[in-house]
Amino acid sequence: MIKSEGPAIITKDLTKIFKSGLFQKTEFKAVDSVNLTVERGEFFGLLGPNGAGKTTLIKIISTLTIPTSGTALVNGYDIIKQEREVRNSIGLVGVGERIFYWRLTGMQNLLFFSSLYNIPLKEAESRAEELLKMVGLYQFADTRYMNYSTGMQRKLAIVRALLTDAPILLLDEPSIGLDPISARQVREFLKEHVQRKMGKTVVLTTHYMEEAEQLCDRVGFMSRGKLVAVGSPSELKDKMKQENAVVIRLENGGPWVVDKLGLQKAWWSSESGDPTGKGTLRVVVESDNEVPELIKSLIDSGVKIVEVKMEEPSLYDVFVKLAGSQVQVEGPVRRPVFGRRRE
Ligand SMILES: Nc1ncnc2c1ncn2[C@@H]1O[C@H](COP(=O)(O)OP(=O)(O)OP(=O)(O)O)[C@@H](O)[C@H]1O
Ligand SMILES: [Mg+2]
Repeated sequence: MIKSEGPAIITKDLTKIFKSGLFQKTEFKAVDSVNLTVERGEFFGLLGPNGAGKTTLIKIISTLTIPTSGTALVNGYDIIKQEREVRNSIGLVGVGERIFYWRLTGMQNLLFFSSLYNIPLKEAESRAEELLKMVGLYQFADTRYMNYSTGMQRKLAIVRALLTDAPILLLDEPSIGLDPISARQVREFLKEHVQRKMGKTVVLTTHYMEEAEQLCDRVGFMSRGKLVAVGSPSELKDKMKQENAVVIRLENGGPWVVDKLGLQKAWWSSESGDPTGKGTLRVVVESDNEVPELIKSLIDSGVKIVEVKMEEPSLYDVFVKLAGSQVQVEGPVRRPVFGRRRE
């Protein structure tokens, strides 16, 4: 695939509205006027809570979903007018797709897909071998797919996406469901081989803050369809330099606490799945001096405090600051899934 000029991905006011309900009258903006540029060779991460629109954005960029309005250029090609060129420019690794034949071996699967892409057999074999070696799957090339572990299956999906040597690799939650060792292998492969050695542009979505911090040159935070911030992990953390997060465990809290106290940079997450009850309130404060006042107003509002501790700002807090208290005030409260936090 010949690389064209300019950035790997440019989106302009990209919007996707889903309609539902009686006469399709209820509209929902899953992606809301997203303007994003990903440079060539960049490792870019999309972060955000469940339902933020990350997968939908990836699907639009990979031509699987048509946007309601706005445009995007991928490898210089228009996602609507040049769908085929866009597809030839990307490798895609989705979540939970059934893309492989269970009875075929890893290698047979790869050769089958290569034939769909019209890659000559000899070339396909040597490319598949090379990729399987890089990812540490070569010794299992002749093992049937149904005997692959989850980690092996994920690696094979990445190899498949790299078969055509497309310049851009898009991955939706590549390390979800993997044990820590497999997740690390996948991350290292993406960073060392795919970005550094092959020079590809990598865009992934993730819920793991450490994954984003470790791998990404830049990250974008999405919240309710909007891209609320873009920057390098350190740039984003710098914005938080003066601030700390106070983490308060409550016996009988809920999103109402955020409302009642009028907290601006706060996040409630419940422990039980039930939005009210036991859980943690995380509040970003400019200085420690704010804490006693905060504790006092919490007690005055009738909540029972179990534990209070201060934490250094993390990327997680940047997100809390940006997506802010609004996240849990409207709509159903979901427990944010952000992987392991620094505790
Ligand atoms: N085909 C569809 N029809 C209707 N609504 C949809 C459709 N696809 C996605 N949505 C809605 O769009 C919103 C964004 O979904 P999306 O899957 O893009 O979020 P996400 O950021 O990938 O979330 P997660 O972190 O849980 O994977 C959600 O509210 C979802 O229910
Ligand atoms: Mg998703």
